[in-house]
Amino acid sequence: MAEKILVTGGTGYIGSHTVIELIQQGYKPIIIDNLSNSKLERLDQIQAITGVRPEFEKVEMCDKAQMEAFFAKHTDIKAVIHFAALLQVGESVEKPLLYYSNNLLSTIHLLECMKQYQIGNIVFSSSCTVYGNPEHLPVNEDAPIKPAISPYGNTKKMCEDIIRDFSMSEKQMKSISLRYFNPIGNHPSALIGEEPHGVPSHLVPYLTQTAKGIRSHLNIFGNDYSTPDGTCVRDYLHVVDLAKAHIAAIRRLLDVQDCPIWDYINIGTGTGYSVLQMVKAFESATGQEVPFQFAPRREGDVEAVYADTTKAKNLLKWQTELDLEDMLRAAWAWEQKLAH
Ligand code: UFG
Repeated sequence: MAEKILVTGGTGYIGSHTVIELIQQGYKPIIIDNLSNSKLERLDQIQAITGVRPEFEKVEMCDKAQMEAFFAKHTDIKAVIHFAALLQVGESVEKPLLYYSNNLLSTIHLLECMKQYQIGNIVFSSSCTVYGNPEHLPVNEDAPIKPAISPYGNTKKMCEDIIRDFSMSEKQMKSISLRYFNPIGNHPSALIGEEPHGVPSHLVPYLTQTAKGIRSHLNIFGNDYSTPDGTCVRDYLHVVDLAKAHIAAIRRLLDVQDCPIWDYINIGTGTGYSVLQMVKAFESATGQEVPFQFAPRREGDVEAVYADTTKAKNLLKWQTELDLEDMLRAAWAWEQKLAH
């Protein structure tokens, strides 16, 4: 029988791509989401892509009673993938308490329920933000953890710590934190993707909106960094590849006998691209011109970060399959479908 995997935040951008992969790889996902940053229509789109409508329940994870009621009904869950979180860096600076209470409380309630119902496996959605501005590139998992620049980043670090400590204390508990680099793109069907609210803060949605004419030009934040062309360097990976990394992590937790109690693994391509290279790559992949201007540095940006992916290759037997052109073409196809 297909193993049941709980996906918190499963109607969101990365969550919904992961639900698709779970279904396609023979698992039975069940989603909880409070729909604060996603829509129920995602279920229709997942069904259109996979032929399967995943189970869904609207649950506010910060409300312990709702969580307990959910787990009492679903006692056959084998593992959890925990995405649900508030994730706007800028908003987290303005509303730190909201971010700390939401992201930490939801995680604690989840772990309490996992303990109560003896569910022993969790994959946590973490971020390369924990490395800050790394001293060595590509950055590997042994690099020192830096003080977080934003409350959002700090919640990722704190949740990693909470999950680690909990895994050490509970005999049946095993966990893997996946430290994502920069996920972009969307499913090739262009039925699901990232839906930014208002002015996008991330590069690729801003870039596609500029190509569509919604924004007059892209502001490139800083051109005086110590990088080959002066603009910041990131490790952009296709969200479909990222989704597959979660299935590999679930498989490791469920199937590998000597899998450590807790672990943390970089999820990226291993290659860094500058903002200027991204603009040029987008133009050549799509034939669309993107007007841009150089603007002052954005506060809190790291200069350059890209992943050492050795650990993911060795432990998860996972590596990216899709290239930058795939990601940018997919992002453009999705943008063209979006009604703004
Ligand atoms: N950028 C621009 N113009 C824009 C938007 C972004 O030049 O309009 C640049 C940024 O300065 C940065 C690069 O494009 O150099 C990527 O920026 P994103 O906002 O797309 O991504 P970040 O690397 O800043 O964000 C990532 C994750 C966050 C995480 C953050 C913390 O997406 O979840 O790293 O380091 F919190």
